[in-house]
Amino acid sequence: MARASVVGAGMTKFGVHDTPLQELFGDAAFEAFDDAGVGPDEVEALFFGNAMGGQTENVTHLGPQCATHVGMAGKPVQRYEDACATSANAFKNAVEAVESGRHDVVLVGGVERCTPETGKDTDEMTRIFASASHRQYEQPTGLTFPGVFALLTKRHMHEHGTTEEHLAEVAVKNHGHGSLNPKAHFGKETTVEEALDGPVVADPFRLMDCCPFSDGAAAVVLVSDDLADSFDAPVDVTGVGHATDIVPLADKETPHVTKAARDAASQAYDQAGVSAADVDFAEVHDCFTGAEVLASEALGLIEDGQGGVAAAEGRTSRDGDIPINASGGLKAKGHPIGATGAAQIVELTEQVRGEAGEHQLDGVSRGVAHNLGGDAATTVVSIMEARA
Ligand code: COA
Repeated sequence: MARASVVGAGMTKFGVHDTPLQELFGDAAFEAFDDAGVGPDEVEALFFGNAMGGQTENVTHLGPQCATHVGMAGKPVQRYEDACATSANAFKNAVEAVESGRHDVVLVGGVERCTPETGKDTDEMTRIFASASHRQYEQPTGLTFPGVFALLTKRHMHEHGTTEEHLAEVAVKNHGHGSLNPKAHFGKETTVEEALDGPVVADPFRLMDCCPFSDGAAAVVLVSDDLADSFDAPVDVTGVGHATDIVPLADKETPHVTKAARDAASQAYDQAGVSAADVDFAEVHDCFTGAEVLASEALGLIEDGQGGVAAAEGRTSRDGDIPINASGGLKAKGHPIGATGAAQIVELTEQVRGEAGEHQLDGVSRGVAHNLGGDAATTVVSIMEARA
């Protein structure tokens, strides 16, 4: 039995948008409504994600504004903020609300603008994002998110011999995947040579190791298991795990194992009654190339220590044994942080339905999504599969 089912999915292109947040969210939501064949009057509640609008665009209490824009004024709206895991947390709570019987049909999604269209440049946006790190122990040191993931990756390199070439292979793979996805921020491929030659952002990361700042929105219509069969092509949510880890980073004993991801994955696999070996493909939180290496191991898709090697050997490419980030991932598809988790759910839905267009994978029926927030402090892992 499914915990809930996705019956409609929509997302904007990720990239640069001069559209106000409410309208950007509406573009994704209306696509999800159309896909599901429902109108906003049939949807009972909105589970909404926006992480940084208060700081980036001086917009708070955005949930009711977006509900009004999509024709859902009067309906209850819950807003979630969990740094980069914002809309995955909204999704998890929506699944629980539907599963509990509280609601039968809900809209879940997120929106964010992070590009200079907000009026904030890279320096200012980097400072705003750093507000998701520890207020007393990390922010005063000047630690940024490229720096956080550089530290995690350096530890992995130290423990397992992962190299900068391995990281470059992740970038090459995800830019290659993204070049097949018309909704990706970057449509261009890269090479190992170009990646290794780029300017250093935070050692060991160079430009091509980093996700961009992006604008975008994503949304899905979620219904109860009982209702799912009355829709075309429902995709079942069979597991959603959610865990946190110690903050600050310095207090984690083995930061490179990303404990929250392992705990969330274990919960999700148990709920779904499957193991990592039963998963056909994954969308993971590759905010930096090293983050994909850690995620592929934390989800049990690749043996511990072998995440970088696996990418270099093509095991995680779209034609490999466990394709990771066929959408291009955050690295190439982009990372409008409050929309990223919902966009992973859109991608799983489209892949499982066989509707992913040029970047469709062959013969996939079960996928896993991994969305991480802060100093690897929060992770949500979701498993979705074709309805039996
Ligand atoms: N990957 C690949 N190319 C990128 C890129 C990225 N992440 N970011 C920018 N570019 C390209 C631009 O398209 C542009 O190319 P062009 O000259 O051909 O037009 C060029 O690099 C310069 O772009 P610009 O916007 O000036 O880059 P920047 O130096 O201001 O920012 C980063 C680049 C990597 C520093 C910035 O994207 C960054 O900080 N990313 C990480 C965001 C982050 O921390 N997110 C949270 C994760 S937890």
